[in-house]
Amino acid sequence: MSTFVVLLGPPGAGKGTQAEVLAKELDLPHISSGDLFRENLKNQTPLGKKAQEYMSRGELVPDDVTIGMIRERLKQPDSGRGAVLDGFPRTPAQADALAALLGEMGSEVQVVPYISVPAETLIERLSGRWTCRAQGHIYHEKYNPPKTPGKCDTDGSELYQRDDDKPETVKNRIAVYDQQTAPLIAYYRDHGKLVELDGTQPIEKVTEQLIAAVEQK
Ligand code: AP5
Repeated sequence: MSTFVVLLGPPGAGKGTQAEVLAKELDLPHISSGDLFRENLKNQTPLGKKAQEYMSRGELVPDDVTIGMIRERLKQPDSGRGAVLDGFPRTPAQADALAALLGEMGSEVQVVPYISVPAETLIERLSGRWTCRAQGHIYHEKYNPPKTPGKCDTDGSELYQRDDDKPETVKNRIAVYDQQTAPLIAYYRDHGKLVELDGTQPIEKVTEQLIAAVEQK
């Protein structure tokens, strides 16, 4: 039996932070659509260059491109037992496509933890975020600082600030989330999969509740 968990929440809610821990806990791959786009951009692939046009404006990459990328990722053998999905799906069309892809694998989404955080908190979170260049480990200068400023605790690589974390771009990302992704809250609630978590708590508290919610499902 495979386990697919979809983490839902606005930009900066803590999806990436929590997905890393949850994937380790469940021994499943962490599949982040944003990380896959950034990896493609780093390697200057056609997909990465196309995605960059949208990401730099804080808009969503078109559904067909995004769904195609996730379809390829789910074909890899490590996804057979399941995955923690972070940042995908982000539109009702992507959610329908995911259900169809998992159906082909004889599986389905088991649980959708929705990390709820008010908009005013998100800008502060994203403007203080630092990300590791090598593997995407996530820090915050105030809420989760690295032991040595500018260096990843796990692999020692350089920490950088994402281009799309500038306040103007963040505002657009939040507006895009409200219009295009927030409808998935009702979508997954109607399917009986949604579990709402208070994402304003400290990171470890959110993790505790997330693991409990997933285990209960
Ligand atoms: P993506 O990379 O997915 O960005 P996002 O969804 O906007 O989410 P973030 O990564 O910004 O935030 P997060 O919720 O993971 O928070 P984090 O854990 O880092 O997407 C980027 C772009 O790619 C999109 O804009 C779009 O263009 C494109 N894209 C991606 N997927 C797509 C899709 N499916 N369809 C179309 N386009 C797509 O935490 C944030 C900060 O807060 C960190 O500093 C962290 O340390 C801190 N923090 C976390 N939790 C807490 C806490 N509880 N208390 C205090 N601080 C906390």
